[in-house]
Amino acid sequence: MLASKVLRYTRVPSIGSLHNLSTSHSLMDAIRNVTVIGGGLMGSGIVQVAAQTGHKVTLVDMKDEFLSKSMANIEGSIKRVAKKKYKDDAGSADKFISDSLARVSMTTDTLSAVKDADLVIEAIVENLETKQKLFKAIDEVAPEGTIFASNTSSIPISRIAEPTGRKDRFGGLHFFNPVPVMKLLEVVSIRETSEQTTQRMMEFGAAMGKVTVRCKDTPGFVVNRLLVPTMMESVRMLERGDASARDIDTAMKLGASHPMGPFELADYVGLDTTKFIIDGWHQDYPDNPLFNPSPLLDKLVAEGKLGRKTGEGFYTYDKK
Ligand code: CAA
Ligand code: NAD
Repeated sequence: MLASKVLRYTRVPSIGSLHNLSTSHSLMDAIRNVTVIGGGLMGSGIVQVAAQTGHKVTLVDMKDEFLSKSMANIEGSIKRVAKKKYKDDAGSADKFISDSLARVSMTTDTLSAVKDADLVIEAIVENLETKQKLFKAIDEVAPEGTIFASNTSSIPISRIAEPTGRKDRFGGLHFFNPVPVMKLLEVVSIRETSEQTTQRMMEFGAAMGKVTVRCKDTPGFVVNRLLVPTMMESVRMLERGDASARDIDTAMKLGASHPMGPFELADYVGLDTTKFIIDGWHQDYPDNPLFNPSPLLDKLVAEGKLGRKTGEGFYTYDKK
């Protein structure tokens, strides 16, 4: 408690505050208190980068053990960032780590976690009903001015926002995995999102050190609309026996300069997440062949082979 009070008064201005100087918003509008709901792969990365860039962050998950796991991931990743950022300066690296971690608090109490938030970012499971239930509950207790954002990969933001009474203060903030490394942030507006909300989300993205692009609420926004069909076409190529997963990956890395091949990437994103995305789009657009589900992907997910996070997907991995 004491620690969070002290931090509130001593926090240095974030990069975002500096950006605000050149916009029509005053410093008062800068987003400072961020609540991230869901501390998995994406949520932990978002928490880390927000804390690194001077924001006060509250991380929410369903169980203490999930919070502990998330915190361990954040610590591991922040050490990698610090090592790189302060190569020959162990003192500054340690300070960067401890200052960043001191800005993070954790709780399983979702409703109390949003009471002081300027921005809530949801990064829970990719399921419409679960997301709607969460936003409906927090809409009743969050301050009027709080902006709500979803990190969904594929669900229309307008549907997630449906049960809330703040559609003008609702949008998408779509980060990429791994969040500490990937430079892009897609800022998604729905029809009702106010220009001020969009601007504040863009400024927040810049404050996080990300390059922002504006997106409409279309399936997959920009990146996933192109990336996911490529991954699914690769799976279909494998199913037809046209080439092996290893060869397809090698071909795309060396022939198209992709940092990971499509199967490595699918394992990295999570095969469950990939399946949620494609199944949702297939349901909404059954006539689009690019959105067809894949029997092989379905089989792997049914067997619990979800990619890196379970130690096996298209490839097998050493368990940590
Ligand atoms: N935390 C902090 N730093 C990290 C990190 C992490 N989790 N992962 C990688 N890094 C940094 C480190 O600085 C690392 O340097 P060190 O080895 O000194 O620590 C550097 O990145 C390089 O990492 P690696 O050597 O481990 O591996 P690599 O060179 O193969 O790069 C990669 C890893 C950055 C993930 C790269 O393979 C890559 O860019 N892959 C493609 C990722 C991608 O396309 N992501 C988008 C997925 S789609 C999505 O996210 C949207 C969706 O909705 C599904
Ligand atoms: P994940 O399974 O790694 O993490 C989800 C976390 O949310 C878990 O820790 C879970 O305990 C928690 N959670 C679930 N319901 C909750 C609730 N009601 N309240 C609080 N916590 C809850 O998932 P992820 O890969 O981090 O994906 C999260 C979101 O981000 C999804 O919408 C996904 O589509 C999107 N996304 C994923 C990626 C990716 O590469 N995995 C990239 C961009 C966006």
